[in-house]
Amino acid sequence: MNSAYATDGQYIHPSILNADFMRIGEELDRISSADSVHVDVMDNHFVPNLTFGAAMVEQIVERSPIPVDAHLMIEDADRQAPVFAEAGASSVTFHLEAAAAPIRLARELRRKNTAVGVALRPATPVEPLLDVIGEFDMLLVMTVEPGFGGQSFLETMLPKIRRARAAISESNLQVSIQVDGGVSRETIERCAEAGANVFVAGSAIYRAHDAAAEISALRDLAAAHGAHHNGH
Ligand code: DX5
Ligand code: ZN
Repeated sequence: MNSAYATDGQYIHPSILNADFMRIGEELDRISSADSVHVDVMDNHFVPNLTFGAAMVEQIVERSPIPVDAHLMIEDADRQAPVFAEAGASSVTFHLEAAAAPIRLARELRRKNTAVGVALRPATPVEPLLDVIGEFDMLLVMTVEPGFGGQSFLETMLPKIRRARAAISESNLQVSIQVDGGVSRETIERCAEAGANVFVAGSAIYRAHDAAAEISALRDLAAAHGAHHNGH
């Protein structure tokens, strides 16, 4: 079930964490030229911040002109993640650190016709996942500690992206690599070069005067620096 990610492409996913929630409909329209909208779900336990629940995600799905990419920063992913697939998210990403049985959960989510992502906090190594990476459509390498927008990009995550991309290519798998946190015009090229092909950007896009221009600038920079990983 790779519908949300054709892995020969590159995708820009604006995060609405930095949007104006009083005007959420217009804020969704502002980014309609992007590939998906990234929705950060936080439960105040897995991360020290609280955002949307499944009912709000369902309303965002109904209102959004583009698909919804749900990033769950919540505990008890095994029980909670399927609810977000049922809410209509096109892809559901849970944290490896919050799942007791990640493979069973990935299979359950795929049965609900959603693409499945697995996310790693910066200090979580990717190696234990590599043998089972084909169970997922997408690997999210966090490039900040999850919880807040507007933090600085962690350069030290680039080797992790490189190792994951090498392992995925070696196994001839179709798995996207998403980066999230501090992605901007200054950092996106290095992410693309390392092998990422899905780029989340919150403050870079929502703080821009012209969000559509920012989306296309990011897309051009990613395409210029990452094509060799994804071209077939
Ligand atoms: C952080 C969230 C991110 C956040 C990114 O925990 O997962 O999606 O919105 O924001 P920026 O792009 O501002 O770092
Ligand atoms: Zn996120």
